[in-house]
Amino acid sequence: MAEGCPFHQPGHADDQVTMKSPTGCPVSPEAAAFDPFGASYQLDPAEALRWSREQEPVFFSPKLGYWVVSRFDDVKAVFRDNITFSPSIALEKLTPAPPEATKILESYGFAMRRTMVNEDEPDHMERRRLLMDAFLPENLEQHEAWVRELVRDYMDLFIDKGRADLVGEMFREIPMTVALRFLGVPHEDAKELRKFSVAHTLNTWGRPSPEQQLQIAEDVGRFWKTAQDILDRMYAEPTGEGWMYDSIRMHKVHPAIVPESYLRSMMMAILVAAHETTAFATTNAFRTLLSNRESWNDICENPALIPSAIEECLRVAGSVVAWRRIATDDTIVGGEKIPKGGKLLIVQASANRDQSHFENPDDFDIYRHNAAEHLTFGYGAHQCMGKNIARMEMRVILDEFVRRLPHVHLVEDQTFEYLPNTSFRGATSLWVEWEPAQNPERRTRSVLENPTHFHIGAPIKDDILRRVVVTEVEREAEAVIRIDLVDPHGRDLPDWSPGSHVELVSGEWRRYYSICGTRGDRSRLSFAILREPEGRGGSVHFHDTVKPGDVLHIAGPKNHFHLDETATRYTLIAGGIGITPILAMADRLKALGKPYTLHYCGAGRRTMAFLDRVERDHGAALTVHAGDEGCRLDLPRVLGGLSEGEQVYSCGPERMLEALETLAVNWPEGTLHVEHFTARSSILDPANEHAFEAVLADSDLTVQVGNDQTLLEALTAAGVDVPSDCCEGLCGTCEVAVVEGHIDHRDLVLSRTERDANDRMMACCSRAKDKRLVLSL
Ligand code: HEM
Ligand code: FES
Repeated sequence: MAEGCPFHQPGHADDQVTMKSPTGCPVSPEAAAFDPFGASYQLDPAEALRWSREQEPVFFSPKLGYWVVSRFDDVKAVFRDNITFSPSIALEKLTPAPPEATKILESYGFAMRRTMVNEDEPDHMERRRLLMDAFLPENLEQHEAWVRELVRDYMDLFIDKGRADLVGEMFREIPMTVALRFLGVPHEDAKELRKFSVAHTLNTWGRPSPEQQLQIAEDVGRFWKTAQDILDRMYAEPTGEGWMYDSIRMHKVHPAIVPESYLRSMMMAILVAAHETTAFATTNAFRTLLSNRESWNDICENPALIPSAIEECLRVAGSVVAWRRIATDDTIVGGEKIPKGGKLLIVQASANRDQSHFENPDDFDIYRHNAAEHLTFGYGAHQCMGKNIARMEMRVILDEFVRRLPHVHLVEDQTFEYLPNTSFRGATSLWVEWEPAQNPERRTRSVLENPTHFHIGAPIKDDILRRVVVTEVEREAEAVIRIDLVDPHGRDLPDWSPGSHVELVSGEWRRYYSICGTRGDRSRLSFAILREPEGRGGSVHFHDTVKPGDVLHIAGPKNHFHLDETATRYTLIAGGIGITPILAMADRLKALGKPYTLHYCGAGRRTMAFLDRVERDHGAALTVHAGDEGCRLDLPRVLGGLSEGEQVYSCGPERMLEALETLAVNWPEGTLHVEHFTARSSILDPANEHAFEAVLADSDLTVQVGNDQTLLEALTAAGVDVPSDCCEGLCGTCEVAVVEGHIDHRDLVLSRTERDANDRMMACCSRAKDKRLVLSL
């Protein structure tokens, strides 16, 4: 690594700043002031780092001695690369222990070793795969019924009281009981273990005082001893049920991968992983939902919305707000040089509110289509193994509340306190009130019947639908209608940015349409639909059936066609109905005062939607290319003299976009942005792939895998459930055993030796080298 700051010139005004980062760069005043134990970060870490997301996404914090990473893409990139960014410091004590505390721990023979979450490869992945079974969705299903019973028992204790501290009376209890039962640990140990896990949190991520350090050391030491006592009892029961028993059995079969010393540390680590995280996440979710009454009412009306509501709560108010990694080499994150040995605080809470990934990130929106992409569970090879257990607990708790206590509300003017630490966030109490006389079950016991059954895993994206009402259907041009939608309760609809689209859903029909209304007018959403008689039927259905007053559903808005507002000039090219996103972009550029030209092509003026409006608002920048007037768009001429820093945005028919992409081959990266009418796979390039067949030896089934499909997609379509998660070859969840055939490995999970063994593959990304694979499925 070169000495000094690569971006800093001597004599620059920054020279007055004396503080320097380890790479010699001046530390900005904001970075110097950043204090992860200060009130603003403790209260709302995402808000406390807003300045960083906007100005300095990676900075060195002298107060912490860490590099802080605040943007979504950077946080995800660090999680993704667990080789360059080792998790080995994930559980390192932030505040060093005084010698007296170390002595106390020694007196207990404390020798906590690394446990999965802070292990490096290849050990980590070998263990993760061996110990994963109990966490797989099909094995979690069986737990839902008893989790519900448990939740009901706790609610019975306070349902008639009219007031409760949900944290003390329920949310701290349930995750511990669930974790213990999942592990197979007897419940009589629960109380003490809960106390220990709180000590562990403060010990690892907090700033305990010297006196607290001694008490913590005592608690952690006892935790260590208790873990061994419990294990000794478990060894005596070779057929016991639960993940700890599974691990003991794995130890017997694979002692080198799961050594005995590992089990004791793992017992401690997993209780901490499972308890505080879920208790805080549930507390935060209730607080958030009860503070957003309309959303609470929506889930009471339709409990099927609970899974997506929970993901949105985990996004805006997650319980793990920051995680740690250490650079194993000189590297770069978000343009900032990080030296080998540099420690990173990657702030998920901030990433989860990054507007480059989440539209309107500060809005709480339970219909957000991509809320489950939050990073609260981490990402990649170490992504939380227990996330589906946590989701299940939270879903069942909420489902019971919306049925039994829909009228519950937060006690006003209560103060919320937090355990001061960098990473775990949740109030220590949450007081709620209700009128017991209004409890629905006093009128009918049927509220307890037919609870919602939630599938295990992330919410199914197709189910996250917002109800809307059609207010207007207007003809905009030949074969083009405009549809306006409003919220049925007259509430604001979500804001959207140029390039956004919604998925319109009516019965079995689901189609994407770009939004083209007036941005900022949140009372309605408008989009235009071209009637395509030769298409797949959706546009004809909407043209022929939709009328004012109809109730439809939408998913989104989503945006895969973002306008980069930093370019120096813009050329916008719309073909036919492709004017919808382009018009929104032109409006935005005009409002920003950016130079742009707009080319609008169509078969003839009569077919060109919004032409009057385009001429009125963008006349000075506009060239109309109407085919029947002999005025065709000459792309090479129009784009012949692009200036430096200029960007081109286009939406239109496939032929036009292909011509543009051919022209753009030698343009600088990021110059051309196009939106296709039809979706393309983001991972596969069908032109460079070949189809193959997967013979499923155990099921006596042959599945054809097209050149535009992953093996995982083909298996799922054939009704063969293969668990999956990242779908990027990172997490190891979708591993399938291979009996025959050559594998084209594309994952980052398997080691070279494992690849060479040719006996397993990741179905989400790896393929067949030839025409056939035989799988043990
Ligand atoms: C790892 C969050 C619940 C077991 C993690 C990580 C995070 C996390 C941030 C590190 C991820 C990474 O490095 O990429 C959460 C949250 C939870 C939760 C927010 C609740 C809302 C649970 C539960 C269990 C659990 C209930 C077990 C029953 C684990 C394990 C790992 C882990 C075993 C280590 C995985 C590995 O390194 O391969 N969790 N967790 N977690 N979590 Fe959770
Ligand atoms: Fe994560 Fe395939 S490796 S789903």
